Amino acid sequence: MNLKQEVLGVIFENPTVLASGIMGVTASSWRFCAQNGAGAITTKSLWIKEHLGNPNPTVISTDHWTLNAVGLPDAGVEKAEQEIADYLKDKPTPLIGNIVAGSIEDFGKTAEHIVKFKPDFLEVNISCPNVEDEFGKPFACSEPDAAAATKCVKEVSGKIPVFIKLSPNVDNIGAIASACAEAGADGFTAINTVGPGMAIDLRSRMPILANKVGGLSGPAIKPIAVKCIADVYAATEGKLPIIGTGGVYTGEDALELMLAGATLIGIGTAVGDRGINVFQKVCDEMQYWCTNEGIENISDMIGGMHKELASRS
Ligand code: DHB
Repeated sequence: MNLKQEVLGVIFENPTVLASGIMGVTASSWRFCAQNGAGAITTKSLWIKEHLGNPNPTVISTDHWTLNAVGLPDAGVEKAEQEIADYLKDKPTPLIGNIVAGSIEDFGKTAEHIVKFKPDFLEVNISCPNVEDEFGKPFACSEPDAAAATKCVKEVSGKIPVFIKLSPNVDNIGAIASACAEAGADGFTAINTVGPGMAIDLRSRMPILANKVGGLSGPAIKPIAVKCIADVYAATEGKLPIIGTGGVYTGEDALELMLAGATLIGIGTAVGDRGINVFQKVCDEMQYWCTNEGIENISDMIGGMHKELASRS
């Protein structure tokens, strides 16, 4: 069974992608993920200038979910450029450069820096759920803001495809995706974390995270990811590739997101729970399931639920 696909002219040996913000700091950590089976790497969210993260504690995990408010710490675009240039020297897998900014204008400026290094895709994080105090509502929560950020990045991205990372914390994710598509988005990453959520320590009566609230990830959010991916796929008529992300731990989880409409599969929280070779494990499990079911090509799964529903109506 073949896990290889070409997406917007880029070859992916398998659909697994290291999600942004997980292990994604240095060229050597990206290589480590590639050696463990990742089909592609996403950098952490890159800012134009140094951005301090939040004070500790920034993460709390249970078996069912993780809450994080790391605060997108970053040394700024110049440091990132060195790491990206280092990785691209031998380039074990495609590289997705993830960018973040506090204003529409800065999205364009940051993208302009990163495209010089020719990542395979740009991923635009307009959907971090913890930024309200610092920047107001995420751009991903409004159609005009999401479209404006998309347009600003597209103006400087040249031939590099632009993926907009969408928020599940909206009334109509399909409408946001359509607005971004109209502004020139080449694809989507769905979803960013859910919430924000909060956890309280019983004795101190205080929120556990110093930031009080954090983005929810892990197995509990997979059904939300599936619904959001299905909505984005339907709203854009399956024409734009989706990096499906949210609660994927196993090969069967990955295949479920593909049936909803995902082309590639982001893996984040599961890296901490199943180990760095989670990429290889998910690939083996996808192979096993598809081989048993007589599926020869992984791309046969993409959007399968929509096709099945249409065939039965
Ligand atoms: C953070 C960033 C995100 O995009 C997210 O979904 C959750 C947390 C952060 O760094 O705080």
